[in-house]
Amino acid sequence: MQTHQALSGFSRSAPPLLLLLLLCSTTASGFGSMGPISASFGKDGFFCAIDASGKQDVVCWGKNSSSSTPSSASSSASAFLSNIPAMAALSGGEGFLCGILANMSLAYCWSSIAPGIDLVPPIFKTTAYSHIAAGKNHVCAIRGTYYSDHEFGTVDCWEIFETWNKSLSSKQSTLFSDQSISNLVFKKVVSGEGFSCGGVRDGGLICWGPNSSNLGVSGPVDNFTALASGRASLCGISDFGELKCWGDTDLLAGHPNETQYVSLAAGEHHFCGIREDNHGIECWGIFNSSLIPKASGFVAITSSDFTTCGIREDDLVIDCWAANASSSPPEYDPPLELCSPGLCTPGSCGEGKFAFNASILNEADLTSLCVRKDLTICSPCGSNCSEGFFLSSSCTEHTDRVCTACSLCQNSSCWDICGLQRPPEMRKKLWYHVRKLVIIFGSSALGFLLILVSWCLLPRLTTSREEGNKKQFKSCIGKAELEADNNEDPHPLPSVVSCPGMAQVFRLSELKDATNGFKEFNELGRGSYGFVYKAVLADGQQVAVKRANAATIIHTNSRDFEMELEVLCKIRHCNIVNLLGYCSEMGERLLVYEYMPHGTLHDHLHGGLSALNWVLRLKISMQAAKGLEYLHKEFVPPIVHRDVKTSNILLDSEWNARIADFGLLTSNDKDHKGDLESDVYNFGIVLLEILSGRKAFDRDYTPPSIVEWAVPLIKQNKAAATIDRYVALPRNVEPLLKLADIAGLAVKENPTERPAMSDIASWLEHIVKDGLTF
Ligand SMILES: *[C@@H]1O[C@H](CO)[C@@H](O)[C@H](O)[C@H]1NC(C)=O
Ligand SMILES: *[C@@H]1O[C@H](CO)[C@@H](O)[C@H](O)[C@H]1NC(C)=O
Ligand SMILES: *[C@@H]1O[C@H](CO)[C@@H](O)[C@H](O)[C@H]1NC(C)=O
Ligand SMILES: *[C@@H]1O[C@H](CO)[C@@H](O)[C@H](O)[C@H]1NC(C)=O
Ligand SMILES: *[C@@H]1O[C@H](CO)[C@@H](O)[C@H](O)[C@H]1NC(C)=O
Ligand SMILES: *[C@@H]1O[C@H](CO)[C@@H](O)[C@H](O)[C@H]1NC(C)=O
Ligand SMILES: *[C@@H]1O[C@H](CO)[C@@H](O)[C@H](O)[C@H]1NC(C)=O
Ligand SMILES: *[C@@H]1O[C@H](CO)[C@@H](O)[C@H](O)[C@H]1NC(C)=O
Ligand SMILES: *[C@@H]1O[C@H](CO)[C@@H](O)[C@H](O)[C@H]1NC(C)=O
Ligand SMILES: *[C@@H]1O[C@H](CO)[C@@H](O)[C@H](O)[C@H]1NC(C)=O
Ligand SMILES: *[C@@H]1O[C@H](CO)[C@@H](O)[C@H](O)[C@H]1NC(C)=O
Repeated sequence: MQTHQALSGFSRSAPPLLLLLLLCSTTASGFGSMGPISASFGKDGFFCAIDASGKQDVVCWGKNSSSSTPSSASSSASAFLSNIPAMAALSGGEGFLCGILANMSLAYCWSSIAPGIDLVPPIFKTTAYSHIAAGKNHVCAIRGTYYSDHEFGTVDCWEIFETWNKSLSSKQSTLFSDQSISNLVFKKVVSGEGFSCGGVRDGGLICWGPNSSNLGVSGPVDNFTALASGRASLCGISDFGELKCWGDTDLLAGHPNETQYVSLAAGEHHFCGIREDNHGIECWGIFNSSLIPKASGFVAITSSDFTTCGIREDDLVIDCWAANASSSPPEYDPPLELCSPGLCTPGSCGEGKFAFNASILNEADLTSLCVRKDLTICSPCGSNCSEGFFLSSSCTEHTDRVCTACSLCQNSSCWDICGLQRPPEMRKKLWYHVRKLVIIFGSSALGFLLILVSWCLLPRLTTSREEGNKKQFKSCIGKAELEADNNEDPHPLPSVVSCPGMAQVFRLSELKDATNGFKEFNELGRGSYGFVYKAVLADGQQVAVKRANAATIIHTNSRDFEMELEVLCKIRHCNIVNLLGYCSEMGERLLVYEYMPHGTLHDHLHGGLSALNWVLRLKISMQAAKGLEYLHKEFVPPIVHRDVKTSNILLDSEWNARIADFGLLTSNDKDHKGDLESDVYNFGIVLLEILSGRKAFDRDYTPPSIVEWAVPLIKQNKAAATIDRYVALPRNVEPLLKLADIAGLAVKENPTERPAMSDIASWLEHIVKDGLTF
């Protein structure tokens, strides 16, 4: 639980003692302790976290899940959302998790097998608890009401065990109903394998249970603000900011006792902590340090045996990493959910903490992440930034400190910390830092947002174009190279070169103005990513702005977004809707694209826009094929579109086909070949739609599926029957029959028999070259 300090005169340059005192109000999450995210140990271990919906719903994920639906674009398949009621706090045992119900402070324990079944023994089912700690197979909880300021109470313990039929059951504990503690009043408690330890109201730490003596906690001990226990070890952060550990000496050898932490988590053979200063992660015990995320700070962490998961302060997205490489990539692929950065508590946050402001999540109607408006989430303030960032503003009552990328360092105040000396050198380093920024994007602060405020407040910068770009345009036929002007960077310092192309950083305010405040009448469409708006920039240029909706922001973490940007920046082709720039500000993610005045191919074929003549249809087929070929061939790994359809083929002012909406689903799929083949299949459907003018699925036809309808006709040499009769036919339909043949090949049932996009593109090129006679 959290205690609230009322220190006055606190400042960021506080002397160490003051910093230590700040630590007095921290939460810990680990095996046995309580937090907004918690893990259960054991081979059936799973993770749960309280979500950021404002309802305190619980999202859980286990090991297998992502493999169960390989085609799923996001890893959210690993989540299991079951009948777990809203929770105030979570704590994990072995194979089960416990929590305190958000509405009535009752304890609730569940296993992954039967989440809807409450494992709390009947005699404790009606008792309110303020604190709960699950150990290997027991649970201890402190009596009291969760959302009250009285956080002290006596302890109840119960055991959870496997029954003969392998289901879990529970009973009141005799092992842990120790006479010596029955009259003590506790502040907080943690549980491990055969022991529990608690901070007593009157000061000190007491351990009990059959295995408690192995820990070696004895004599007068400090008070602790955060505790975490492994199977046979215990670590805590004393009121004086010191890390103290007991038990398993192998595991604890060389624990970094000089660093200050705000939160701890214990795995089977390692502990990890969140540093007080920059909220980065440090671990001790047996672990592989190269697997620890370095680019982001965390607000909460928890560990299962070999995996640690945490909630990133940048964007409240869950990140998991393994302790050792043999389980990497993490078996626990977390769902892409926004999670609560901490526990909801009554009262104000006190010094050294800030109250989380839900409005920065930019979700309509979400003013608080807690079930009750009088509750707040208090998080410890950071005091320093990760490498490559400088502290640009200190923690306030409602926001964490702001870390700004060194690339934006403008004067001597940050030269030292950024390793910059003189402006000329600065220029050189900028490249490095900005590239890093694109990769890292944020290292601290609730600051995806905050960092990016400054990031977006940059003047928009045009970058000098690289030679390399030119060759990417070589595959365009009959079209002058796009934007061949080679402007020198007109801007003095700081020069931001984030893209080898020409991506600009836009301001949110600018894009708001350009879209009339993202008003509906500016909407061009809505896709899975979010809305697309037509925008007119201040200089009169028309662009299309894709604005990520909340679900997208929730379902893609900022790292995915950065990767996305990196890829999108590299893509330049005359048959692609190219990225012009982007903005990430105030939690918003916006991508700015070339505007395509003639809309989608879908709307021309099926939606009442001008019907396209055959010359145009063949040209569009070829150009779309070239766009896809470019994605498939020019990149390693290839870029798979994954959603090839007529509504993703747009037409520019000169009626050239442009591929849109690719790459917005990042995937770890190793099976690129299979994915490429499915792009080809879908392109085959596009060709059939172009040829026939009918929709891919249309109940007016029998069969309704265009493939099932057209392929037999093509096979029986009756392809002519598939040709659209509503547009004037050429005198010689041979080229159209060839188009049908190509489509037939592309939709072959056996993926390996389908041609590559480059074959299709060159066949179509021949057809276009030969021309049509009318
Ligand atoms: C994980 O998958 C394995 C094999 O596919 C299965 O035996 C096991 O029960 C699964 N575990 C969970 C928690 O679903
Ligand atoms: C509290 O939540 C539990 C679980 O969702 C529910 O069964 C119960 O009815 C709720 N009680 C009140 C008073 O809302
Ligand atoms: C397992 O046994 C418990 C009682 O020990 C019973 O409540 C539960 O229904 C049983 N589960 C199955 C799947 O038989
Ligand atoms: C005490 O620890 C040992 C391993 O050190 C373990 O086998 C035993 O189950 C633990 N006792 C309890 C009650 O958990
Ligand atoms: C622990 O806290 C209690 C009161 O909360 C205080 O009386 C005691 O001195 C503290 N102990 C230490 C070692 O700081
Ligand atoms: C940290 O540990 C080392 C040895 O492990 C010890 O010498 C040193 O005194 C400790 N420092 C603190 C602050 O406890
Ligand atoms: C640590 O993990 C990295 C990345 O997976 C791997 O390359 C390296 O070999 C691992 N080191 C050890 C000691 O396992
Ligand atoms: C590495 O992790 C796997 C499980 O992911 C575990 O079985 C193995 O013992 C671990 N190795 C070490 C040295 O911790
Ligand atoms: C939260 O942020 C919004 C928008 O920035 C602001 O209007 C509001 O006052 C903030 N709430 C608090 C409690 O500071
Ligand atoms: C802040 O962090 C940087 C590294 O990121 C480090 O060099 C510096 O010493 C730290 N400053 C303080 C006051 O801890
Ligand atoms: C450095 O620049 C920042 C704004 O970029 C400003 O707030 C700060 O006062 C400046 N510091 C010095 C020493 O000029």
